[in-house]
Amino acid sequence: MKTNITINEASLGGQFTFPGASLTVQRMGYGAMQLAGPGVWGPPRDSEGAVAVLREAVAAGVNHIDTADFYGPHITNQIIRKALHPYPAGLVIVTKLGAVRPPDGSWQPASSPQDLIAGVHDNLRNLGLDALDIVNYRAMGSIHGPKEGSIAEQVKVLADLKRQGLIRHIGLSNVTATQVAEAQAITHIVCVQNNYNLANRSDDALIDDLVRQGIAYVPFFPLGGFTPLQSSTLSAVADRLGARPMQVALAWLLHRSPNILLIPGTSSVEHLRENLAATQLALSPQTLAELDGIAAANDAVKH
Ligand SMILES: NC(=O)c1ccc[n+]([C@@H]2O[C@H](COP(=O)([O-])OP(=O)(O)OC[C@H]3O[C@@H](n4cnc5c(N)ncnc54)[C@H](OP(=O)(O)O)[C@@H]3O)[C@@H](O)[C@H]2O)c1
Repeated sequence: MKTNITINEASLGGQFTFPGASLTVQRMGYGAMQLAGPGVWGPPRDSEGAVAVLREAVAAGVNHIDTADFYGPHITNQIIRKALHPYPAGLVIVTKLGAVRPPDGSWQPASSPQDLIAGVHDNLRNLGLDALDIVNYRAMGSIHGPKEGSIAEQVKVLADLKRQGLIRHIGLSNVTATQVAEAQAITHIVCVQNNYNLANRSDDALIDDLVRQGIAYVPFFPLGGFTPLQSSTLSAVADRLGARPMQVALAWLLHRSPNILLIPGTSSVEHLRENLAATQLALSPQTLAELDGIAAANDAVKH
């Protein structure tokens, strides 16, 4: 399959250049959601620990950090700023708009033009930036999956903010293939961030379509998120390879498609190191087939 993706076999999974953008990142990045307090609410139990995780990630070569101003809310972005500002050249911070956290801690949609504009300014202020590298419009649906429905109004607002210079590039999150196509008719889309991992393969066809277009696919919940991946096959493969199950789950994603960029979330330096080391794990075709069987078995149970 011919794509415009350059894979360099160096550490951290090689590199990926966002389409039509002068932004190149290592395929292994970092998701900052776990840095807020329990339930992604309030300050972390260990603020210095959170700063240490970010600094260690960047020192190890990570140059793609995923965040949102509604993590905390505001807290995660403030920790990123405290740990890393002034930001090193080449660091790409990706944020998202489309939700707010009222005082009861719930997650509510915030997708009116006013909400989206306010969200951009919250991100700029809390991250200490004049412009945001990439902003994903995060459509509501549910955490388990997207819901069909037009996102044109929201994408037009983001395109306007891009014209004003407050956003450099636009992505989408929690969207269907139809919504991706709708957004592409309005503006240039550089990435899609949806729920996908070894056990949840609903987006297989979308990933194959995006790789043909050179668009990044960034799975959220790569390790299962709030319900960590558990599978006897995964554990058996990990034992055989002398690796941790979570490392195998990340390595499988890197092997799955060259447009997949990883943003595993962790509040622990030890887990961060394990996750970065997953880029060194080579999986044979036989092992990949074995791991592919996990989702097939899940589907068989569901039907
Ligand atoms: N667009 C969206 O709607 C959306 C939704 C959710 C998340 N996201 C983004 O995606 C990123 C990744 O998702 P996520 O953080 O929710 O889930 P995840 O990466 O699938 O899993 C995170 C969980 O796994 C644990 N963990 C991490 N590394 C581990 C390791 N090596 N061994 C054992 N446990 C490990 C973490 O706990 P410890 O802290 O103890 O390591 C945490 O409980 C987020 O950080 C966020 O940036 C986006």
